[in-house]
Amino acid sequence: MSVLVVAGTGSGVGKSVVTAAVAALAVARKAEVAVVKAAQTGVGAGDDGDVDRVMRLSGVRTTFELGRFPDALPPAAAARAAGLPPVSMSAAVTLVRELSESNRLVLVEGTGGLLDRYDEDGATVADLARTLRAQVLVVVSPGAGTVNDTALTLEALAHRGARPRGGRHRAVARRARARGALRRRRPGDAGGAAPGRRAARRGRCAARA
Ligand SMILES: Nc1ncnc2c1ncn2[C@@H]1O[C@H](COP(=O)(O)OP(=O)(O)OP(=O)(O)O)[C@@H](O)[C@H]1O
Ligand SMILES: [Mg+2]
Repeated sequence: MSVLVVAGTGSGVGKSVVTAAVAALAVARKAEVAVVKAAQTGVGAGDDGDVDRVMRLSGVRTTFELGRFPDALPPAAAARAAGLPPVSMSAAVTLVRELSESNRLVLVEGTGGLLDRYDEDGATVADLARTLRAQVLVVVSPGAGTVNDTALTLEALAHRGARPRGGRHRAVARRARARGALRRRRPGDAGGAAPGRRAARRGRCAARA
């Protein structure tokens, strides 16, 4: 039904943790939730990616990765470096639309910052959000320079006709944790311990041209 794109001002700002927090709140309300990572970079085959952490933290069982590339680069560059086809935005649109027919909420976590490129035509997660008519949750870091980064990101969103849902940072995760919705964490998941449930139903889409 609803599609929410979780974008950020950059890499490592907390998109996955916020995605897990939103998912956990929805799961706690018994909603069917699917999580899509648009492109996973900087992770090798067989290693845990963002969707694995989101599953552990939130209990969501339906997750997809649209492409996986080992170099920690923006998706288009990472695909080029690996000699693989880039993530197809049209495939992403099709998958998210299909998922939105059977799930109350589809969360799409972007890769890097809002304007990182997914293919050689320069498609971004902002374009994906606009095509899907999805709202965009902008995750920002609490560090120095964040006001500028946030303003630039929101301006870019507005310029592309995408719909900001509102800026968030780690307060969302705190709220979910306070409500007991966010599962306990394992090392590497913002500290803590204890495994969560593995995916029972999980798809990983190969990168397609
Ligand atoms: N609420 C939080 N409290 C403590 N640490 C956090 C919180 N949110 C995120 N972190 C930590 O910050 C780091 C980056 O978070 P996260 O992986 O969610 O960022 P990201 O934007 O998804 O990164 P990427 O660009 O790699 O997808 C991680 O080490 C994570 O554990
Ligand atoms: Mg992430």
